[in-house]
Amino acid sequence: MSRHLLSAGDLSSDEAIAILDAAKQMHAIQTREVKKLPPLRGRTIVNLFFEDSTRTRSSFEIAGKWLSADVINVSAKGSSMSKGESLRDTVLTVAALGVDALVVRHNASGAVQRIAGWVSCPVINAGDGTHEHPTQALLDAYSLRERLGDLTDRHVVIVGDITHSRVARSNVLLLTTLGARVTLVAPPTLLPAGVGAWECATSWDLDAVLTGKAAGDVDAVMMLRVQRERMGGGLPGGARDPGGVFVPTEREYAIGYGLSPARLDLLAEHAPILHPGPMNRGLEISSVAADSARSMVLDQVQAGVAVRMAVLYRMLAGVDAPALAEASA
Ligand code: NCD
Repeated sequence: MSRHLLSAGDLSSDEAIAILDAAKQMHAIQTREVKKLPPLRGRTIVNLFFEDSTRTRSSFEIAGKWLSADVINVSAKGSSMSKGESLRDTVLTVAALGVDALVVRHNASGAVQRIAGWVSCPVINAGDGTHEHPTQALLDAYSLRERLGDLTDRHVVIVGDITHSRVARSNVLLLTTLGARVTLVAPPTLLPAGVGAWECATSWDLDAVLTGKAAGDVDAVMMLRVQRERMGGGLPGGARDPGGVFVPTEREYAIGYGLSPARLDLLAEHAPILHPGPMNRGLEISSVAADSARSMVLDQVQAGVAVRMAVLYRMLAGVDAPALAEASA
């Protein structure tokens, strides 16, 4: 594993599986009454978030704390950046405090990679613009493996706002590394330019994918949030400035691409539903689907802590560190 985790594409299949296996051990700890383990005692992790987050930031914070690291949260709001300090100066200041790892989220694609070039400690990408979100892909793969076992030849359908989704890009990279097949489904305006070069199939027609010839082999469906905040007014009711129109109306989007109760019934018995959250209920996913027994939304949140513990442990204690059971003995 390289020093940083910037892209899901950085992981080989062996490395990804080693992280997912380690996460399984970590997951067992989540059900214990006392959750703290000693391996990262004395290490300091900074969560540096330049963009809003609930689950990713708190998930990294809990993951670090359960491994006994000291975790500090720095958010752009309230930081010196609002006084005009540059990104580089802010990052170098934080790093100079004596930090062992930086977990960074930024609204600009590529910003986390730039930051990794400025500091000497490991950097983990917690989401950069519309580019990548590798630990989300790892927790999605973890959740899928819990329900489906080995992902070789499994068919995962990812539906929604692919254009603005760092989750989709990281998932395509990781799922194909793990041997799965991916189909991306979205209206043409929400499929990114250049998607033809991605290692996956694409479709504009969700019903055709769910009912067509290949329908029986859909093993999982991942619904993505319609990212109003990145659309520059492209969705009615979205941001205020007039930008390109991606979707005519929310209602039309929900009719064409929402996971309605009727579409839920089309899925094979074994196929789980995933959503990285936050969900827009009634838009990309109906409450019936979100709350159904096949929904893995909360399992994904739990898996997030375990996977991030595994990533932090490997990056800070080293890939050759003893297995967790020995480390915590
Ligand atoms: C995603 C994100 O922020 O990239 N959420 C998350 O990390 N759980 C997806 C989203 O915002 O829709």
